[in-house]
Amino acid sequence: MASIALVLMVCFLGFFVPAPSLASSSNDTDFLRCISTSVPSQLVQTPNSPSFRQLLVSSIRNARFVAPATASPPLCIVTPTNASHVQAAVRCGRRHGVRVRVRSGGHDYEGLSYRSVHPNSEAFAVIDLAKLHAVRVDPRKATAWVDSGASIGDLYYHVATADPRLGFPAGVCSTVGLGGLLSGGGMGLMMRKYGLSADNVLDATMVDAYGNLLADKKAMGDDLFWAIRGGGGGNFGIVLSWKVRLVPVPPTVTFFKLAKTMDQGAVNAVTKWQTLAPALPDDLTIRVIVENRRANFEALYLGKCAAVVPTLRSRFPELGVTHADCKEMSWLQYTAYIYYGDSTINRSMALGPFIKNKSDYVQKALTNETWEKIFLWPKDAASGQLVLEPHGGRMGHIAANDTPFPHRSSVLYNIQYVEHWNGKGPGGDLTPTPNWIGSLYDFMAQFVSKNPRAAYVNYRDLDIGVNTVVGGVTSYESGKVWGERYFGPANFRRLAEVKRRVDAGDYFRNEQSVPPLPLN
Ligand SMILES: Cc1cc2nc3c(=O)[nH]c(=O)nc-3n(C[C@H](O)[C@H](O)[C@H](O)COP(=O)(O)OP(=O)(O)OC[C@H]3O[C@@H](n4cnc5c(N)ncnc54)[C@H](O)[C@@H]3O)c2cc1C
Ligand SMILES: *[C@@H]1O[C@H](CO)[C@@H](O)[C@H](O)[C@H]1NC(C)=O
Ligand SMILES: *[C@@H]1O[C@H](CO)[C@@H](O)[C@H](O)[C@H]1NC(C)=O
Ligand SMILES: *[C@@H]1O[C@H](CO)[C@@H](O)[C@H](O)[C@H]1NC(C)=O
Ligand SMILES: *[C@@H]1O[C@H](CO)[C@@H](O)[C@H](O)[C@H]1NC(C)=O
Ligand SMILES: *[C@@H]1O[C@H](CO)[C@@H](O)[C@H](O)[C@H]1NC(C)=O
Repeated sequence: MASIALVLMVCFLGFFVPAPSLASSSNDTDFLRCISTSVPSQLVQTPNSPSFRQLLVSSIRNARFVAPATASPPLCIVTPTNASHVQAAVRCGRRHGVRVRVRSGGHDYEGLSYRSVHPNSEAFAVIDLAKLHAVRVDPRKATAWVDSGASIGDLYYHVATADPRLGFPAGVCSTVGLGGLLSGGGMGLMMRKYGLSADNVLDATMVDAYGNLLADKKAMGDDLFWAIRGGGGGNFGIVLSWKVRLVPVPPTVTFFKLAKTMDQGAVNAVTKWQTLAPALPDDLTIRVIVENRRANFEALYLGKCAAVVPTLRSRFPELGVTHADCKEMSWLQYTAYIYYGDSTINRSMALGPFIKNKSDYVQKALTNETWEKIFLWPKDAASGQLVLEPHGGRMGHIAANDTPFPHRSSVLYNIQYVEHWNGKGPGGDLTPTPNWIGSLYDFMAQFVSKNPRAAYVNYRDLDIGVNTVVGGVTSYESGKVWGERYFGPANFRRLAEVKRRVDAGDYFRNEQSVPPLPLN
């Protein structure tokens, strides 16, 4: 309570009061003892606990991080079953000089929810929200409260079983955690009609950097509520639960997938797609995956096959779509189909290969000559792909400062570069050979957004910059380097202002956390 009062005073009086800071030297033993007084022992695992390793790797998706995470493990993993455990972990951490990292689905592309890039410089504990995964749907109001530890598949399932006329615009991969997804935006095949996942957040509850529970957006204040809807995870507090707006979906949706080789005109089809896809009706989204000198067009239409085939035949005859390409199904079945290739709903999550991803935004269409070079980009061993996600529709009608996510009306589409390789087991090659992704990304600089070259925070990429700490606090200048690329200069500055108000002491800190804005 005292620190809420302090925070209110800071904004009310409009001047800066130094925040109580983290204990100057960390004492791990005292930290663990402190936790044990408020959190039941079965919810706290240390590296000595028999199932610690299994828990640590349980939601690691990228094989690249298994060895680093297990070699330099967190002091402990707390698996809260209610808010008071999260509050206790933050309070004990602050009191005894131990930082915490929060993990929801564990899908962070750089593993920042459970590993530190410089593990020796700072001890940390992990708060793993996997046990907080309730979904409560109110079909009458078309809203749901969903806990951060739920996956988007959990949300899809509960929404559709509560009322098959409702859905939620989120990602393609059902195993992604809501905590990270909503914190950083959330793109998917309904965003052209309904915006990002984060655009559909109505309220939230969170634990702040002092261990206080902020029960709703009023308790957060407008600026903090703005910041948590796209400003990136791990910056402002630990969001426990989100109230989301559900959206109408028809009883039948149509999905199709068409592959074109270069001989079949893939280059010119992708060239045309760049301006066509963002301009299509917003209930039709076509994304493209470019891989092995082919283009795979994948489409979701919110309606029946018979209604979409004529549109596509007239506007995109190069695809040659026929009724035979359509797969009609329920929206819930589609959410499984697009990721797994069939519509069985419940799956378990497996460790993937060694992966590195990067992202770009395209504002001006590339020529077919450029696309030809991309299709033929040399690649000997590792395998690579490009995922192209069209914007336009609702995405173009939301202002760049409505949420921290700035990539709106100026964008034609997002490119995600993906390279995976066989790192040959634990501790294997941390970078791919050949570095297909790095050389292609360098080549692409001339064709994509500039000053700054933009990127999507949920496709986190530490190559674009990492923080340095000066005088105990993350340097704003170091944060600007990567932060302006994810959020644009104005939104980044505003995020840093929010950070100064709610976490001036920089308790929630990682390699790419928003720094507090300096006073002058
Ligand atoms: C296979 C796969 C498919 C993907 N598909 C899509 C897609 O279709 N669309 C899309 O937009 N993105 C997609 N992503 C990216 C995904 O949105 C991000 O990686 C997202 O941050 C993952 O959330 P998480 O909770 O699973 O991850 P975590 O690793 O748990 O968290 C990510 C970050 O958020 C922080 N964080 C986690 N929980 C909280 C919380 N409760 N409060 C505050 N901070 C928190 C973490 O500390 C970390 O910094 C995909 C990722 C993968 C691996
Ligand atoms: C931590 O505190 C305990 C007493 O609570 C003390 O015995 C121990 O030496 C301290 N460790 C460090 C590293 O300061
Ligand atoms: C949280 O769990 C603890 C047990 O660890 C219990 O004592 C407490 O009442 C619970 N709090 C709430 C708000 O449910
Ligand atoms: C990279 O992107 C692909 C395709 O979206 C995704 O399946 C994969 O999980 C991503 N990478 C990482 C590091 O997880
Ligand atoms: C499928 O998953 C949902 C949500 O996670 C769960 O509620 C349901 O019981 C599962 N169904 C089966 C058949 O396992
Ligand atoms: C690019 O398009 C032009 C005109 O549409 C065509 O003449 C040319 O052959 C195409 N080039 C490639 C590489 O496909």
